[in-house]
Amino acid sequence: MGTRVVGIASGKGGVGKTTLIVNLALQLAELRKKVLIFDADLGMANVHLAFSKRISNNLSDVIDGTVSLEETIVGLSEGIDLIPGGSGVANIADLDEISVSSIVRAFSALEGQYDYLLVDMSAGISTQVLTFLSCVHLKIVVGTNELGSISDAYSLIKVHSKHQNMEGLVYLPNRVSSSKAGKKLFESINYVTTKFLKKDLEYIGSISEDALYSRVWNSSEPKRVITSSSNAYSELTAVVSKIEKHSAFNSEEGSKGLSFFLDGFTS
Ligand SMILES: Nc1ncnc2c1ncn2[C@@H]1O[C@H](COP(=O)(O)OP(=O)(O)OP(=O)(O)O)[C@@H](O)[C@H]1O
Ligand SMILES: [Mg+2]
Repeated sequence: MGTRVVGIASGKGGVGKTTLIVNLALQLAELRKKVLIFDADLGMANVHLAFSKRISNNLSDVIDGTVSLEETIVGLSEGIDLIPGGSGVANIADLDEISVSSIVRAFSALEGQYDYLLVDMSAGISTQVLTFLSCVHLKIVVGTNELGSISDAYSLIKVHSKHQNMEGLVYLPNRVSSSKAGKKLFESINYVTTKFLKKDLEYIGSISEDALYSRVWNSSEPKRVITSSSNAYSELTAVVSKIEKHSAFNSEEGSKGLSFFLDGFTS
């Protein structure tokens, strides 16, 4: 079984992508999964901050050839490692062939070492985000019920759907007042995509507004205690169980593990 690659994106920024990645990684690690987070928010990489870790090397050093990809890996917590993206790799989609092949080779070497690769992307509709979205097995677009987030999520989904099929495209409502409100938000976005794009989004649950869930950013507290006493924790548990059983990882692409992720960079 190859590494499962999950990408988290959003139209508008600040809607909870990184908070989701951190909590998701913590729950997967509790299930004894080995998780690698790739902080591909190349402008504002911040996953390490949730774990109070310092970064010395990042992906741009790998491209420069000064360090190997393995040397950039930072252990964040039991079962959770990080590859920091680094702001020097702003145009990953435009990298020359030598750089791309060095990244490809480096990621390939990690095949089999991790159960999950979670890719934290920058907000918005850049070529880079579209490239990443096209090469992950399961795509999760996070959004809140704020108007700007709704319209930006729709724009991202629309642009993505022009280039790619929407197989395995999940819309995950975050910071909602209840699961019922989350389902309603999902349905309103899905109504528009079905009507105008003739494409259905996938529903795997939602996450409520919850101060405990977002306290993963509070570096002075042990992460596990915070997450397991949170209301959003059980909603996320349901999301994790859907991810664990997701058919996207059993598809032809999914069975290719990390090499499918890497095909996206080279095609
Ligand atoms: N379910 C939630 N309940 C309460 N607060 C939340 C929730 N999800 C996220 N937040 C808070 O929202 C803020 C933004 O979250 P986060 O940094 O994860 O967003 P992001 O989408 O990664 O942002 P960016 O686009 O800048 O990378 C943080 O302060 C976080 O604590
Ligand atoms: Mg973020």
